[in-house]
Amino acid sequence: MLRSVSSRVAVALVALAVLPNALATITCGEGSLCPQSAPCCSQYGECGIGAYCLGGCNPKFSFNVDSCAPQPICVNGKYTFPNLNSVELNTKYLGDSSQAAFVSSGYAYPANGDLLLAMPNQTTGTVVASSTYVWYGKVDVVMKSSRGQGVVTAFILFSDVQDEIDYEFVGADLGTVQTNYYYQGILDWHNSQNISLSDTFANWHTYSVDWHEDYIQWSVDGQVGRTLFKNATYNATSGEYDYPQTPSRVQLSIWPGGLASNAPGTIAWAGGLIDWDSADIQQYGYDYAIVQSVNVECYAPPSFATQSGGKSYRYVNQNGTQESVIITNDDTVLASFDDSGLDMSSGASSSTSSSASSSASKSATSTASIPNVSVVSSSGASTSTSSALTSSIPTVPGGNGGPELQRGDSSSGTTSSQSIADASMVSQSTSTTSSSSSSGAITTSVTGTGVGNLSTSSSFTSAASTSSAGTGFSQGGSTSHSAGAVVSPTSGALVLLVAVIFGLLMV
Ligand SMILES: *[C@@H]1O[C@H](CO)[C@@H](O)[C@H](O)[C@H]1NC(C)=O
Ligand SMILES: *[C@@H]1O[C@H](CO)[C@@H](O)[C@H](O)[C@H]1NC(C)=O
Ligand SMILES: *[C@@H]1O[C@H](CO)[C@@H](O)[C@H](O)[C@H]1NC(C)=O
Ligand SMILES: *[C@@H]1O[C@H](CO)[C@@H](O)[C@H](O)[C@H]1NC(C)=O
Ligand SMILES: *[C@@H]1O[C@H](CO)[C@@H](O)[C@H](O)[C@H]1NC(C)=O
Ligand SMILES: *[C@@H]1O[C@H](CO)[C@@H](O)[C@H](O)[C@H]1NC(C)=O
Ligand SMILES: *[C@@H]1O[C@H](CO)[C@@H](O)[C@H](O)[C@H]1NC(C)=O
Repeated sequence: MLRSVSSRVAVALVALAVLPNALATITCGEGSLCPQSAPCCSQYGECGIGAYCLGGCNPKFSFNVDSCAPQPICVNGKYTFPNLNSVELNTKYLGDSSQAAFVSSGYAYPANGDLLLAMPNQTTGTVVASSTYVWYGKVDVVMKSSRGQGVVTAFILFSDVQDEIDYEFVGADLGTVQTNYYYQGILDWHNSQNISLSDTFANWHTYSVDWHEDYIQWSVDGQVGRTLFKNATYNATSGEYDYPQTPSRVQLSIWPGGLASNAPGTIAWAGGLIDWDSADIQQYGYDYAIVQSVNVECYAPPSFATQSGGKSYRYVNQNGTQESVIITNDDTVLASFDDSGLDMSSGASSSTSSSASSSASKSATSTASIPNVSVVSSSGASTSTSSALTSSIPTVPGGNGGPELQRGDSSSGTTSSQSIADASMVSQSTSTTSSSSSSGAITTSVTGTGVGNLSTSSSFTSAASTSSAGTGFSQGGSTSHSAGAVVSPTSGALVLLVAVIFGLLMV
């Protein structure tokens, strides 16, 4: 991160000139691995470098098993959100989990001591994922879901080979939370089970996933709602247990299952078409879920696991089972968004001037380095939108002295206006000169525009509607788990904007 301002501008300009062709999407999946020039297969099935090689990078479909960066090892911790110091934008995070416990894309804000996940009108929502992985452990999340037909909130454990352990909240039925699991992204429509509980939007509940090598328990408020034994997941065809078994991130999200452009099965599952004129959108400008805390307790890794360190997990073959994973001391941090697991410091090793030109030529011939904001859910749905173009301050639910405002803040001393200032700093950091302080706090010299609320910011609205036009979903027996990311012809301007911002960020 030592390049001069002028080289940053040069990179941005070159990127601007060549992007329309440079960013042609290379997809990856079963039987089609990424090329060496864009070696990392993102969780959405697209090849790239940089952030594509961090959380969600699928070693099964990447160029080779070393393309993805090693995964930060499990860390015990309890996280609350008096501010967003523990949350870093995916446009900035390079793999140093000690700097940020969570990585966000979309619209995450601090709200009266809690973490607000927003889905503004016409957008594809927000995803916040832990920077560290859990390889067996217990995760408790205290949260309130979103509401309204077509609006889905999720709390899942999600591995890079797409093992999944899920809670999903469909806003049309607030008396039910759906539990589910997947093995290596294989769609199976028979694994969902419901747990009944009191209104998930109105009430805080503690949702727990207790994940062991041989069983998983889903508990709500300490009461077991479902138990899955590994031995019940045996697949006689493959001779394998279709059981979640690989290191997984904690992923919290809100997304529009009921988007009109989604597959009919997805819309039906989500309870119908989303209503962009819902009471919450009218009042606040967005639908939302609220997370009060996340607690992670790490269990010992499997006894058979090869352990030659205590820093990271990595896959040693592309089978994607727990036997493919070892524990190492290998570093998890990329030097820049030009890098991948194949060479984690390709940019840093060059001199200032040559790195500018090598970045430029890389941009001209290669591919994207920051996946769009995306949400994948157990339903097989995936969707994406450009990251971090928020330039507005949200109206916080309960912000007029309602119950939300009254909880949480007294101990931290954070006033609601400070929280809101944090939100604007974080959300504007991509369009300004930013840096991370050594404490992990995001410090920003704010020069952006668009300070207002979500529903009134025009720059916000145009970016958001452009991206949602390019959304695709699959569910209900349609193609693959990561079939999203349909390219929109109207997304060109957005891609350019992202590219320029990205170029400016290549400090
Ligand atoms: C779970 O509840 C939803 C309604 O919220 C219903 O549509 C679905 O069929 C239920 N699933 C199971 C497995 O009972
Ligand atoms: C699966 O394992 C559990 C716990 O070890 C045991 O109680 C149960 O009987 C087993 N079920 C089958 C089908 O083997
Ligand atoms: C069993 O494994 C096969 C081969 O991987 C897969 O195609 C099939 O979907 C699995 N069956 C179930 C019920 O998941
Ligand atoms: C949401 O956006 C749509 C499309 O621009 C608009 O018709 C609708 O009125 C908006 N909803 C609200 C509550 O502003
Ligand atoms: C990967 O799986 C295949 C078959 O599923 C097996 O033959 C092979 O030994 C496995 N490789 C490793 C390194 O475990
Ligand atoms: C946010 O925008 C909405 C719609 O324009 C407006 O009604 C509301 O008063 C605004 N809220 C704030 C805090 O500015
Ligand atoms: C995601 O970004 C890539 C470039 O990084 C672009 O080619 C693609 O169209 C985008 N996908 C969507 C759904 O916007």
